[in-house]
Amino acid sequence: MSAFPLRIAPSILSADFARLGAEVASVMEAGGDWVHIDVMDGHFVPNITFGPAVVKAIRPATDKFFDVHLMIAPADPYLEAFAEAGADLISVHAEAGPHVHRSLQAIRALGKKAGIALNPGTHESAVEPLLDMVDMVLLMTVNPGFGGQAFIESVCGKVARVKAMIGDRPIEIEVDGGVTPQTAPLVAAAGANVLVAGSAAFKGGAGAYASNIAAIRSAAEAARG
Ligand code: DX5
Ligand code: ZN
Repeated sequence: MSAFPLRIAPSILSADFARLGAEVASVMEAGGDWVHIDVMDGHFVPNITFGPAVVKAIRPATDKFFDVHLMIAPADPYLEAFAEAGADLISVHAEAGPHVHRSLQAIRALGKKAGIALNPGTHESAVEPLLDMVDMVLLMTVNPGFGGQAFIESVCGKVARVKAMIGDRPIEIEVDGGVTPQTAPLVAAAGANVLVAGSAAFKGGAGAYASNIAAIRSAAEAARG
């Protein structure tokens, strides 16, 4: 069991972008713990979302924690802008460039929490040299780029191995992609404590957000023991 609380992080990639501020407020009032913010550049991943101006625009919608997942390469030229826009934690991908160590140093120098993200095909050894400079390891359970993809179950073994590697360091483990009430127990049992949910959180419109989040939370809590 993780020393950290279970956190459900709705991914606003699945929100109605025409009403984004209201959607953020609504999903967080419905029980979301962290706001998961997917930034894509059409280069590192085959999709484009939004940049720091949009993060700044939605910042007043909630007081909750802004978990910014950068799927961009290069990341370094934009870190300061995301920090100033209101990010609380910024994750960069190990695959996004040769100098991820520098990126993590820069995030912490900006006074923000730092996360290292790994694609499903990247071995967990990539995070080992970085463990003393991160607050979170983000393990992708889909190939990044789109919401609504199928959960890649083989990543559960990687979650457990990263948890063992972390030991007693104060590092959270986040999983992202295909998390539903059916898959949440698998990642929670393996040791993840931050569960990103896009389509499973936002399905059915605002009236369903609270029950969607509660269903993921209760399935995961039961598996944590
Ligand atoms: C995928 C993003 C995810 C995505 C998850 O590239 O990083 O955060 O929104 O969406 P679901 O939960 O629908 O798989
Ligand atoms: Zn994400």
